[in-house]
Amino acid sequence: MRAYLKRLPAELKELISLAGKVSRETRMPAYLVGGFLRDLLLKKRNFDLDICVEGNGIIFAEKLAKKLRSGIRVHERFGTATLILKGRLKVDVATTRKERYPCCASLPVVSEGSLIEDLMRRDFTINALAFGINQGQGQKLIDPFGGREDLAKGRIRVLHDLSFKDDPTRILRAIRFQQRFGFKIEPKTFLLLKEAIDSGLLYKVNVHRIRDELILMLKEDNPAKQIKALYSLAGLSFISPKLKPGKATYSLFKAIDKEIAWFNKNFPGRRHLDVWLIYLAGLLKPLGLAEIKKICRNLALRGGEEKRIAGFRQSGARIIVSLSKKGASPSRIFSLLEPLSYETIILLAAVSKNKYCRKHIADFLEIYNGMRLYVSGHDLHGLGILPGPVYQKIFAKVLAAKLNAKVSTYEDELALIRRLIQCPGTNALKKQ
Ligand code: CTP
Repeated sequence: MRAYLKRLPAELKELISLAGKVSRETRMPAYLVGGFLRDLLLKKRNFDLDICVEGNGIIFAEKLAKKLRSGIRVHERFGTATLILKGRLKVDVATTRKERYPCCASLPVVSEGSLIEDLMRRDFTINALAFGINQGQGQKLIDPFGGREDLAKGRIRVLHDLSFKDDPTRILRAIRFQQRFGFKIEPKTFLLLKEAIDSGLLYKVNVHRIRDELILMLKEDNPAKQIKALYSLAGLSFISPKLKPGKATYSLFKAIDKEIAWFNKNFPGRRHLDVWLIYLAGLLKPLGLAEIKKICRNLALRGGEEKRIAGFRQSGARIIVSLSKKGASPSRIFSLLEPLSYETIILLAAVSKNKYCRKHIADFLEIYNGMRLYVSGHDLHGLGILPGPVYQKIFAKVLAAKLNAKVSTYEDELALIRRLIQCPGTNALKKQ
């Protein structure tokens, strides 16, 4: 284990060592658990630390936050806390707990428990390992279910027969980890998973939890592989009976992969993309608008998310036709694309095979997007124009001229405005 820890980046080593100190000072045994530990053993980079504490996770987190001079968000009800750190590190601290599921697919009843009970409530053996971070405790790996061997052999295995019944979102998680790591679902686990699917448990889970797991699948490196595996094992009727992805969907996913890579490479300073939303809109593309809206509502997506997904279905085809015209003017391209989100624009680029359309999208992102005028309302006022809706009209005209390279400098813009207000229609707006 020491060799694994040694290889970690300095910031992680320091954080773990500080957490070890807090563990000693508070006399609360603390452990690295979950995905961080799994990825450490798989030699994969992970900056999301999960720390489990026997005692009081919140007090522990507060002391650690003080040492790190970081912010902290406490979730009193769950006995957990998240440290708010600058940079890429994320730390969640929890008190060890046990869970009891009153019935299938319901939320668990949680109460304090020992470390072993905490590991026992987890989904798969590879996620049910712990590592004591207090040097005084010997810093050893705690592996009650053979997780380390399963990691070495590439196996996804549940801890007990009721695992999928207790929490059917684990069906999606098993597929996600299987595809992410190229692991096999161990034969008995596979039977239990099929049994859970066949008995319709995915229809019984709270939709928010299905949505969260679906989003996680679409955020993976290869969402097409994820959806293919999910569809072949469980179908997608639990989202919509009309959802039947085929070759066209998977080749659209490939095109989306390329467009996202192009966008990230060429526009690193722009807003972070909601990539999952682009894939989800691609997945839903063959469906009618009403069905898409119904799915968005069933999954309880936010208004803005639904708007981006439905908006593509509603006007994507029309916009592509307009953008595919050779010689579309920059102001026309701007007016079509400026109101859209980057996610929608990327989807348009992925869907369209027309070279002009793709060139116009590239021009928009490279040149026109975010183009601003030098003149302001102050200048219009200085020219004697009364404030009102006419300001927007004038700005739109000057911007169109700028996009079409008819004006470039501040003086050009002012000269154009002077010409515009000479027109009989706008003259009356001048100050008396
Ligand atoms: N867990 C679980 N059952 C779930 C969700 C989570 O048992 N339905 C447990 C697992 O032990 C998991 C840990 O909670 O490792 C943390 O959950 P999460 O952060 O969702 O998963 P990670 O394993 O960290 O996965 P990822 O690498 O995708 O973040």
